[in-house]
Amino acid sequence: MQLSDTKTLIVERGNKKVYDLGDQIAKVFNETKPVSDIFNEALNLARINECGIASPRVLEVSEVQGGGWGLLTEKVPGRTLAELMEEDPSKFYEYLERFVDLQIDVHTHRSPLLPRQRDKYARMIDGLDTLNATQRYNLLERLDGMKRHRRVCHGDFNPTNVIVGADGELAICDWAHATQGSPAADAAMTYLLFALTDTQQADAYLELFCERADEPMQVVRQWLPIIAASELARKRPDQDAEFLMSWIDVFDYQ
Ligand SMILES: Nc1ncnc2c1ncn2[C@@H]1O[C@H](COP(=O)(O)OP(=O)(O)OP(=O)(O)O)[C@@H](O)[C@H]1O
Ligand SMILES: [Mg+2]
Repeated sequence: MQLSDTKTLIVERGNKKVYDLGDQIAKVFNETKPVSDIFNEALNLARINECGIASPRVLEVSEVQGGGWGLLTEKVPGRTLAELMEEDPSKFYEYLERFVDLQIDVHTHRSPLLPRQRDKYARMIDGLDTLNATQRYNLLERLDGMKRHRRVCHGDFNPTNVIVGADGELAICDWAHATQGSPAADAAMTYLLFALTDTQQADAYLELFCERADEPMQVVRQWLPIIAASELARKRPDQDAEFLMSWIDVFDYQ
């Protein structure tokens, strides 16, 4: 993959940079990122493209001239829902309704070869060195007791990953964490991602999701310690580890 001189940087995070190449987007990772993770994100995206969910088309995974590996996708022109929500807070609820309806629509899809959510969370909890054996056992037992589903779940569904096109159509990017599993678990992740910055927005989201998806709020809440633990395992640079631990501890001895 060759990046043109006219590229513009969209975001820079710990181990990657995302570039706008005009009509394509390149997500370029540094050497610490396992190449298999990048192929996995591309494979997830290909499966999502094939099941008919509005998403950028996957184009290429290859070594980038100058270092690292990159994932190339078609650009969806538009602005993210996060930008629009921030620009006009009076429209937050209106945007939230579209956001929730879009997530519920994703959950109507099936993709039988996507990774299994349950396996992924179990693996992440198992590998968490910041939890002791008792805490890990509690979480794995809780995970085992949750009802089994096989719905497409984005796994990182938040307004920065939803693009609003010029025609108002919505598309979803960033399928690195996609699985097939429980919609309530996916909603718990979205709730937690909102709650990391704004608990009022998180509560408004949860109420609306449960209402529209006809999902009991208790089920989403039951997933929260599991989701908090898996988010802790991702070790994102901007992550609030103390906050996530509090979500795990609350349910520790219930
Ligand atoms: N195909 C695309 N079309 C338009 N914009 C895109 C596309 N892919 C990514 N973007 C923009 O780039 C931003 C970052 O990309 P992306 O969400 O894939 O990375 P990330 O959030 O850093 O990834 P991760 O959650 O895996 O750490 C998005 O929020 C979106 O604004
Ligand atoms: Mg993203």
